[in-house]
Amino acid sequence: MVKKEWSFDTLTVHGSEGIDKHTGAVAPPLYQTSTFAFHNSDHGAALFNGETEGYIYSRISNPTQACFERQMAFLEGCEAGLAFSSGLAAISALVTTLCRTGENFVSSNTIYGGTHSLFQGFLPRMGIEAREVRATHLDEIEAAIDDKTRLIFIETPANPNLDLIDIQACAEIAKKHGIPLAVDNTFATPALQQPLELGAEVVVHSATKYISGHGDTVAGVLTGTEELITRIRKETLTQVGYCISPFNAWLLLRGLKTLSVRMNRHCENGNRVAQYLSFHPKIEKVYYPGLATHPGHDIAKRQMKDFGGMIAFEIKGDLQAGKTFIDSLELCVQAVSLGDCDTLVCHPASTTHSTYTPEQLTQAGISETMIRISVGIEDPSDICNDIGQALQRI
Ligand SMILES: Cc1ncc(COP(=O)(O)O)c(C=O)c1O
Repeated sequence: MVKKEWSFDTLTVHGSEGIDKHTGAVAPPLYQTSTFAFHNSDHGAALFNGETEGYIYSRISNPTQACFERQMAFLEGCEAGLAFSSGLAAISALVTTLCRTGENFVSSNTIYGGTHSLFQGFLPRMGIEAREVRATHLDEIEAAIDDKTRLIFIETPANPNLDLIDIQACAEIAKKHGIPLAVDNTFATPALQQPLELGAEVVVHSATKYISGHGDTVAGVLTGTEELITRIRKETLTQVGYCISPFNAWLLLRGLKTLSVRMNRHCENGNRVAQYLSFHPKIEKVYYPGLATHPGHDIAKRQMKDFGGMIAFEIKGDLQAGKTFIDSLELCVQAVSLGDCDTLVCHPASTTHSTYTPEQLTQAGISETMIRISVGIEDPSDICNDIGQALQRI
């Protein structure tokens, strides 16, 4: 029996429900099935018209998906959760459920490049306007809201430059205007930051990242009120077909068991690598919320339990210096994505954020020479030594 008073570390291991009631299975069972048999024709009709509850078809829901959704809602302190085939599917379902043609939403401008592309490339085709502002400047959020604004969307810490946005202050603005605040919690996870406690209404994840933790799944999840999640499931997920596969939901459940220990190690290693970089003579600037020099350090201390494993930095010199550095790495893997056990390094301006125009990059505080590192759970000395030898080659 799971007890609410257990610590977060214990709850990630034991899940929202603990041992499977029907079978005694300690690991959550995988229901790898597309469809579910009806008891008889009346039962089938009752499931379809909502008179009775149960499983019909895995695009709509599935016990393994549902178990992952409950566990995520539980860890985020939300009433309900909804799993998706990717983080972007979760974000597009959220926005297209809340906004109709002719309406708009306000978003921070420093966000994952794929989210920016969805907001500026795809949604305008449906007549939905994303008003991207510097959310570190709260007055810009306030000024962008009008009577057609249906949502405020922020990412904090932000991809790729680790900008910190004050969740509580944004929630106050959202409440004042009677609209929900959604927070992309991918970089922090519920282990480090719980947006609902700070007044947000919806939490978004690319579960591909720390929730999976092993770089073997692409998935997304939303958590929020029962009412909103049910609306998104019925109006959008089921109809568009954004569903997650049961196997991927099962992999995420497995990932969640080690979320706390992994995040502890990511934070320890992140701090160690950030310190190493900040004292290195070839490094110009380090962006890590745990450093007192980070402009969002105080916000991070207020709203995060620890500072995570994501770092951005700039090397002294030109773009070629950065390329030589990345191409010289031997342990750290040159790849996009983040939150894996392996340390991953990329150049956002030419990869994850290549969907930004040069002006948008400048506006969003993403420099041409910025390098992003997702610090893994390897021995931190090995990571630092690899960074050191690659810097030496410049
Ligand atoms: C912060 C953030 N949100 C959302 C996404 C999109 O998630 P996915 O790649 O799972 O669609 C990403 C992907 O990198 C991300 O970094």
